[in-house]
Amino acid sequence: MLWLVQAFLAIGLAEAQSSPNNSNPNGTSPTVLDNATSPPFYPSPWMDGTAAGWADAYAKAQAFVRQLTLLEKVNLTTGVGWEGEACVGNVGSIPRLGFRSLCMQDSPLGVRFADYVSAFPAGGTIAASWDRGEFYRRGYQMGMEQRGKGIDVQLGPVVGPLGRNPKGGRNWEGFSPDPVLSGIAVAETVRGIQDAGVIACTKHYILNEQEHFRSPGAFEDVGFVDAISSNVDDKTLHELYLWPFADAVRAGTGSIMCSYNKANNSQVCQNSYLQNYILKGELGFQGFIMSDWDAQHSGVASTFAGLDMTMPGDTDFDSGYSFWGPNLTLSIINGTVPEWRLDDMATRIMAAYYLVGRDKYQVPVNFNSWSRDTYGYEHAFAQTGYGLINQHVDVRDDHYQAIREAAARSTVLLKNTGILPLKGNEKNTAVFGQDAGENQYGPNGCADRGCDNGTLAMGWGSGTADFPYLVTPLEAIKRETAGHGAILQSVTDNYAFSQIASVAEQASVAIVFVNADSGEGYITVDGNMGDRDNLTLWQGGETLVQNVSAYCNNTIVVIHSVGPVLVDSFSNSPNVTAILWAGLPGQESGNAIADVLYGRVNPGGKLPFTIGSSASEYGPDLIYEPTAGHDSPQDNFEEGVFIDYRAFDQKNITPVYEFGFGLSYTTFNYSNLNVVKVPAGPYTPTTGKTTAAPVLGNASTDPADYQWPSNLTYVNAYIYPYLNSTDLPGASHDPEYGLPVEYPEGVTDGSPQPRIAAGGGPGGNPQLWDVLFTVTATVTNTGSIPGEEVAQLYIRLGGPDDPIVALRNFDRLSIQPGGSATFTADITRRDLSNWDTVSQNWVISNYTKTVYVGTSSRRLPLKATLDI
Ligand SMILES: *[C@@H]1O[C@H](CO)[C@@H](O)[C@H](O)[C@H]1NC(C)=O
Ligand SMILES: *[C@@H]1O[C@H](CO)[C@@H](O)[C@H](O)[C@H]1NC(C)=O
Ligand SMILES: *[C@@H]1O[C@H](CO)[C@@H](O)[C@H](O)[C@H]1NC(C)=O
Ligand SMILES: *[C@@H]1O[C@H](CO)[C@@H](O)[C@H](O)[C@H]1NC(C)=O
Ligand SMILES: *[C@@H]1O[C@H](CO)[C@@H](O)[C@H](O)[C@H]1NC(C)=O
Ligand SMILES: *[C@@H]1O[C@H](CO)[C@@H](O)[C@H](O)[C@H]1NC(C)=O
Ligand SMILES: *[C@@H]1O[C@H](CO)[C@@H](O)[C@H](O)[C@H]1NC(C)=O
Ligand SMILES: *[C@@H]1O[C@H](CO)[C@@H](O)[C@H](O)[C@H]1NC(C)=O
Ligand SMILES: *[C@@H]1O[C@H](CO)[C@@H](O)[C@H](O)[C@H]1NC(C)=O
Ligand SMILES: *[C@@H]1O[C@H](CO)[C@@H](O)[C@H](O)[C@H]1NC(C)=O
Ligand SMILES: *[C@@H]1O[C@H](CO)[C@@H](O)[C@H](O)[C@H]1NC(C)=O
Repeated sequence: MLWLVQAFLAIGLAEAQSSPNNSNPNGTSPTVLDNATSPPFYPSPWMDGTAAGWADAYAKAQAFVRQLTLLEKVNLTTGVGWEGEACVGNVGSIPRLGFRSLCMQDSPLGVRFADYVSAFPAGGTIAASWDRGEFYRRGYQMGMEQRGKGIDVQLGPVVGPLGRNPKGGRNWEGFSPDPVLSGIAVAETVRGIQDAGVIACTKHYILNEQEHFRSPGAFEDVGFVDAISSNVDDKTLHELYLWPFADAVRAGTGSIMCSYNKANNSQVCQNSYLQNYILKGELGFQGFIMSDWDAQHSGVASTFAGLDMTMPGDTDFDSGYSFWGPNLTLSIINGTVPEWRLDDMATRIMAAYYLVGRDKYQVPVNFNSWSRDTYGYEHAFAQTGYGLINQHVDVRDDHYQAIREAAARSTVLLKNTGILPLKGNEKNTAVFGQDAGENQYGPNGCADRGCDNGTLAMGWGSGTADFPYLVTPLEAIKRETAGHGAILQSVTDNYAFSQIASVAEQASVAIVFVNADSGEGYITVDGNMGDRDNLTLWQGGETLVQNVSAYCNNTIVVIHSVGPVLVDSFSNSPNVTAILWAGLPGQESGNAIADVLYGRVNPGGKLPFTIGSSASEYGPDLIYEPTAGHDSPQDNFEEGVFIDYRAFDQKNITPVYEFGFGLSYTTFNYSNLNVVKVPAGPYTPTTGKTTAAPVLGNASTDPADYQWPSNLTYVNAYIYPYLNSTDLPGASHDPEYGLPVEYPEGVTDGSPQPRIAAGGGPGGNPQLWDVLFTVTATVTNTGSIPGEEVAQLYIRLGGPDDPIVALRNFDRLSIQPGGSATFTADITRRDLSNWDTVSQNWVISNYTKTVYVGTSSRRLPLKATLDI
């Protein structure tokens, strides 16, 4: 595909978007990623009213937007500024129509900044359930809580970061470094949230794989450093990082958040290739693109490049100025931006609103993000509008039950010499670890969970919620042992060596709780600026395990962590009789682990990542130091699609515990693989043209029509759509206003555009989901108690650049002792395809394709060749 070479001078920012697609046309990893560039693509695609699932919402949205004035449309697109309203982000309202400001609220695991809400297991933890029902139920319950607080858009789920490197600080907010597990999890979560009547915002699009340097900023020692550029080739983009976003789009996500970083040296929120071509073009995304908070870095450039909503609306927090707001009004009336582009932004926002039924389910916002007080300021930053701001509405319902169940079902049993489940009649139980007990400041004692005190049940940053309570492991285990005449002692100071020794020595069973934390880069905990500095346990966890297991030959280790941790210092110790990974389980942590330890729940979770022996096994390290010149650090994704287990398999490294691994208290056997070919038509590229861009208004270009209303009560630093002056350069407050800019070809072209071959429906060409094979296998419970097994289907695509095996499907089966269940899984055309950079489409290569079924990525007893 040939790209036009154009210099794109954005406001105050020269964005070189030139050079053709930089990947090797043969589909191998590209030779050079350093300084990669992103090709331009214009015009920004407008909504397709015929897109599957969107027709009704589109019609309603168009009817609504047709009534709006230019200023009202601008209000829909632009946030009112940081801490300007009740939610973590709000756009302007449309008082004339009684349409209130839309409310966007964190987080991917619950409602942030509110009370009487639930703290759900984190994304990376629920992923370990490998259970579509759990993904959906969690999404639905979170959605119901958001809805009950009056929120319109939940800022989640997360599939970016995907988890390229396990040290990435926010990986735990997402699901798994495997794109298929993440894709299924995100699709079910989106459906759950949106069935509850709230718009899901799938984020962060895209390649936001580390916290260090995610945004431009000044650093103490080195001064200004521009945002990191994640440089990726076209094949890796499609086969790995974009994959789960395609699933989210297919599931109907109403919104997608563009990320802080650059991709191929272009800021993602103004990257026309990624937003216009890939997301709205190829993936046929019909909802709206919202910026991450302060991730917008230009006005007109981001407008043309496909951004639809700016959050929180101001250029910098509380600057009082905006790249949009008055500037968006100006860019329309001065003729730079065609009105159809603004109409499309507004239509996309309103279509998402109608798609999920916000018109039916909206309740007044009844909380305030910036204070838990009942009375306070409506506009927190401006300190005005004193009144009732928090009604403390309890939206939790009976969600605690599902949270407990989900956390237990997401717990992964990594080792068990037979000591588990415990009987509850152990004579002398000892519990160790700071991670077993309370945070001395309370469960919410560190802002945004920015410390690692007490038991770890959530990472830190904006992806959090306040705990309504947090059941610690120690209190739950105490409850188990009470009443049995047993002894229970605990030491929660990891460094109380002599007390640890003397308690461990007496114990018949010792349960050691250890952890490793991470979070968002604006908080540093124990020297970790969001991203982890290493993969070892925190708080001297390894030493703790050693100190306990040296004295007790029945030591059970429970790990609460954000992702992989190094366990080989103790995993082979004969005195360590069991190891469990419990992730970040949320509010019911202690109850859930007790359910597993004492056998009420037979563990069936599987690792959603690989546990290796050193950080270097996972591939390239994160970038922790700025590169010379203080330009964008170049983060070259040279490993291509080989991350996590694909990297271990490719380099033939034996992991400690492989992706997909997890034991049960019973055992399973696999047999009877059967592959049935399903007739499907050929794959046909999408052809033809779109409609012309609909124009839903004809706004006046007279500046006098857009002046501040004389009776408006100005809220300090608030962003409005109005002009302060009829002198346009003056109103813009921009020294570069009106300077000649050569925009790339096609930015204003509203004529019918060619459809994209790999596109054609939400998520991509609908034929990618044609089923080509149906696979069945028998899974038998060969033990003596009921259990659940996640049967996994992997495919070997067979080419030299393909993973040895790649997950393609799975199902969690509940099986009675001695009984069998049939695992049934479809294999779609998408599952068998590679991205072909020459035809810019998916193709099934001529290499032999093999299907594997089994219990983990490395224990695949059944296999068959696919007759394509
Ligand atoms: C692509 O493959 C062809 C045929 O094998 C080869 O001649 C050509 O050099 C390859 N191109 C690149 C960029 O590797
Ligand atoms: C990328 O740009 C930097 C800075 O200009 C330069 O030092 C480096 O050699 C470039 N890399 C490549 C592969 O051209
Ligand atoms: C824009 O939104 C603000 C804030 O909600 C509101 O005060 C103003 O009236 C709105 N303007 C228009 C034209 O609707
Ligand atoms: C318009 O945008 C420019 C940056 O492009 C900014 O400096 C200016 O303050 C904005 N004007 C208003 C009125 O928000
Ligand atoms: C139109 O308005 C935008 C936004 O303020 C500004 O950046 C641009 O320079 C203006 N263009 C002209 C031709 O006046
Ligand atoms: C509790 O958290 C604070 C803040 O991170 C830290 O300084 C302190 O060491 C922690 N206390 C313990 C006992 O871990
Ligand atoms: C790894 O980081 C944790 C958390 O900061 C720290 O406690 C631990 O000592 C570090 N491990 C190593 C080997 O440096
Ligand atoms: C295992 O525990 C016993 C005490 O039960 C102790 O004597 C022995 O040294 C321990 N072994 C290891 C490898 O820690
Ligand atoms: C631990 O050591 C005790 C005393 O030697 C022994 O009775 C018990 O069987 C051992 N337990 C395990 C799990 O090895
Ligand atoms: C301001 O004046 C306009 C025009 O007279 C009127 O429509 C609007 O309701 C007034 N707004 C307020 C907040 O009083
Ligand atoms: C617009 O004018 C108001 C009233 O004079 C002033 O307070 C505000 O700062 C101005 N806003 C911008 C964006 O120029």
